Amino acid sequence: MRHIALCLLACLSLWGVEIDKETGLKVAKGLDVVKANCTACHSASFITQSKLNREEWLAAIRWMQETQGLWEFDPETEDVILTYLSTQYPQANTSRRRPQLKAEFLPK
Ligand code: HEC
Repeated sequence: MRHIALCLLACLSLWGVEIDKETGLKVAKGLDVVKANCTACHSASFITQSKLNREEWLAAIRWMQETQGLWEFDPETEDVILTYLSTQYPQANTSRRRPQLKAEFLPK
């Protein structure tokens, strides 16, 4: 058992992923800015469950700004946030999930 625990610890640190205990977000450059701006209204699990590219992250932010009362960011802050999000929670293009069925193939 001990060996397994030790191995797990070693693997995790080799992997290099450290998780912020407060939010569950990955510890990386920009985390403080993301924490300050993105966890006020909802939990960070919205972020950790998303896998988006930079444009899609920007679109999500614009959507919240237009419809959910998210405040505007200055360009530097926005860049830090987008870089953090698209690096730590990037688009998943390795999904093995089959594409959605087209509407005409679904039961009526
Ligand atoms: C002013 C409040 C507010 C702030 C601040 C905020 N959000 Fe949101 N966000 C929302 C609301 C409201 C929803 C929709 C919740 C729901 O669907 O129940 C949402 C939804 C989301 C979703 C899910 C979108 C989807 O398609 O389901 C993601 C991802 C997200 N937010 C990320 C972020 C990120 C990243 C930030 C920081 C840049 C942020 N949020 C800051 C209000 C906020």
